[in-house]
Amino acid sequence: MAQQPLPDTQLIRPAKGLAGSIRMPGDKSISHRYALLGAIAEGTTEIHNFASSADCQSTLDCLAKLGVPIERRPDRVTIQGVGPRGLRASPTALDAGNSGSTMRLLSGILAGQPFRSILTGDASLSRRPMKRIIDPLTQMGARISSADGGLPPLDIQGGQLKPICYEMPIASAQVKSAILLAGLFAEGVTEIREPLATRDHTEIALEQMGVDVERRRRTVTVRGPAQPAAKALYTPGDISSAAFFIVAGLLVPDSNLVIQNVGLNPTRTAILDVLASMGGQINVLNVQTISGELVGDLHVQSSRLQGGDLPVELIPRLIDELPVLAVLGTQAERGLAFRGAAELRVKESDRIKTVAQNLRRMGAQVEELEDGLIVPGRQPLRGAELDSYGDHRIAMAFAVAGLVADGSSILHGSRCVNISFPEFFATLNQVAE
Ligand code: S3P
Repeated sequence: MAQQPLPDTQLIRPAKGLAGSIRMPGDKSISHRYALLGAIAEGTTEIHNFASSADCQSTLDCLAKLGVPIERRPDRVTIQGVGPRGLRASPTALDAGNSGSTMRLLSGILAGQPFRSILTGDASLSRRPMKRIIDPLTQMGARISSADGGLPPLDIQGGQLKPICYEMPIASAQVKSAILLAGLFAEGVTEIREPLATRDHTEIALEQMGVDVERRRRTVTVRGPAQPAAKALYTPGDISSAAFFIVAGLLVPDSNLVIQNVGLNPTRTAILDVLASMGGQINVLNVQTISGELVGDLHVQSSRLQGGDLPVELIPRLIDELPVLAVLGTQAERGLAFRGAAELRVKESDRIKTVAQNLRRMGAQVEELEDGLIVPGRQPLRGAELDSYGDHRIAMAFAVAGLVADGSSILHGSRCVNISFPEFFATLNQVAE
């Protein structure tokens, strides 16, 4: 659980091998969605293996402030849904913390409420663009004001919404989900078209909870008003958390690692496809479907990796894995390059910049592009002082880099792993030799 206080600096020693069998925390993306839908369902939604991430706790805290009774146990969250009309205005601002998903998805629901809400976030979230949800939700009838440049805090006056047909200018599952959630409160058919396929957990969760969602290629529609039905749901292990151990297991010699119970939704498994095409030995075992999501175990063995260029159309489906893939690029025969990832600049940190800065500290060469990175291959990394820049995925990507470096590294600002994977360092210590 997230409650263990973590030191904010970690010593990362080179590893000889990674061995054992580990589990990942529940998927962060899916946990947000189950909590939000459970809140507006009528009846009890029990969510098993709910994410231990601080981001998902932010979602629960916001829902509690909106009058939703929530009980949290170590591996399970129970939500007494209040129904689509049962939320109550919060007397104080709703704090989304570091979580873009909390702010953007919750805005979709708040847009349909007959009251005003203020949504705030931490320093990092306060720099992240919200115009992408303000535009469509305003078209649907909500009144939303923000700080200059469409930045948080958001002041949302919700009300009766009308359906829209929306062509998304960027591929973002958070934007798609905010509109779908707002669509539950609109009278008629809301249609969303995405430029490239993004994760579809909202669509699956809605279907699981009895809401009809129509899907044709990159178009998704929902007919409102619609109310999700409460039910027991299971959250698979987070593949974006597993990605750090998958890459570590491939790169560190003499590794033999099993990662159990990982979510294998095809809109999230581009990381596996890319690594397999580069020569990574990853076997997928025991695949089953739970709560509409594919789940299985991954067996990872050290591999010689080719590297190469990542296809642009895959970028939205491996956006969270790009920092650790850039680290992998330094060890691959042909390096690794990608473009079409300008979104990385508006994540928890500017991930193009923060990846490049840490790689340079380790003595590697890297070329920063406006929308990507070019990482030459076969570069030895040397142990260095590294910075997370307060970004959980940068912290974990560079902990992995430290495992294959020559000499120890010191990672500053490591506590931010709590945002998605509080157990990260404990799990690493368990498998690293
Ligand atoms: C998420 C979607 C992605 C991803 C984020 C979680 C989601 O963001 O980077 O970590 O849960 O829908 P965008 O939708 O902004 O690309």
